[in-house]
This record gives sequence, structure tokens and C-alpha cells, in this order.
Amino acid sequence: MITFVTTNPGKFREVSAKLAPLGVRLRRRDRAYPEVQAERLEDVVRYAAGVVAGQVRGEFLIDDSGLFVDALGGFPGVYSSYAYRTIGPEGVLTLMRGRTDRAARFETVFLLGARGHPPRVFRGACQGTIARRPQGRGGFGFDPIFVPRGHRRTFGEMSLSEKNAISHRARAAEALARHLGGRRG
Ligand code: IMP
Repeated sequence: MITFVTTNPGKFREVSAKLAPLGVRLRRRDRAYPEVQAERLEDVVRYAAGVVAGQVRGEFLIDDSGLFVDALGGFPGVYSSYAYRTIGPEGVLTLMRGRTDRAARFETVFLLGARGHPPRVFRGACQGTIARRPQGRGGFGFDPIFVPRGHRRTFGEMSLSEKNAISHRARAAEALARHLGGRRG
């Protein structure tokens, strides 16, 4: 059993649905941890892991993710949670008004940790574009404005299993599962 430390129920739903069929069970610990101001998602999870390791028994998982928009120099990126709370998806669309380059990607960094053990980091990314307007009520965060490459609908218009087949977080979960499979198998 791995403790997924997250205040975001959407992340927990996605990762549990992805890992359950692979025999990896998760429980959720709804607890915030300090998000240090850094330029890379990996630095954010590594800092947080130092705090979480002192609070959680056994193995724990942390997820830090962000939306990186090419035309905005990678913004909001590591500042995605701040940007979501302040300008929100509508604010990102406003910044993108008149832009023809709408390329963007989501990235997830997972950290698997346990007190006294070196942490392991896993990554996933999903390329796509920023929609012209928000579409769909599914998912969470910036899902309604992100159209994954090769699709016409936003993540917000997809079911959990559709998003889980292609998302940044799903890719990171697959990498985590490969690691656990190798270790446990
Ligand atoms: P954090 O990983 O919780 O710091 O997330 C940063 C911000 O990006 C939050 O506002 C989330 O809502 C948003 N976010 C993270 N992952 C996703 C996703 O899979 N879809 C849409 N928004 C996301």
C-alpha cells in the first residue's frame, strides 16, 4: 500500500484507476505540503518529500504537475497552481488571444519516497494545444482548455479512462508501475 499525499481528489482518482489493474494499491492522505518556489517540477517534489517523509509512515507518492505553454515561454509551468488560483483557465485564454502558436504540454513528476530510502522520480508528459474556449466539465484544473495531440476534444470533455489512456499523469504512473513490477515481480 502506497500513501498518495495530495489535496487533489482528481489526481487520486486518475492514479488509483491506472494502478489498481496493475495490482498497486493506493490510499489518499489529504494533506498539503510546502511548494517551494523553483524552476523545475522535480525540485518542488524533492523539497516536499523531505517534509512528507517526516509525516507519513511507509511508502508515499507525491505528484507535481504543470501546464507549459510554448507561446508564453513555458508559463504557467511550475507556477500552474498559483496561476490556476489567480487567473484561472480563462486568464490563460486571455493571454493566448490572437496567438496562432497554441502548442502546450502537461508534465507530471512523481516522487516515490520512504523515510530512510533514496527517493525515486518518474515523469510523464502529454503534448497538445490550448483550445480557443473552455470545453467540457470533466477532469479538473486546466483540463477544459487542453486538447491532447491527435484528438479534437479537450481533456475536460473526456472520461477518466480516456484521459488515463494518454495523459502526462498516466505516463508517470506507467513508469512507476514498471519500477514496482521490477522490484516486486
Ligand atoms: P499541482 O501539481 O497540484 O501543483 O498542480 C498545478 C496546477 O495545475 C493545479 O492548478 C492543477 O489544477 C493543474 N493541473 C495539474 N494536473 C492537471 C491535469 O492533469 N489537468 C489539468 N490541470 C492540471
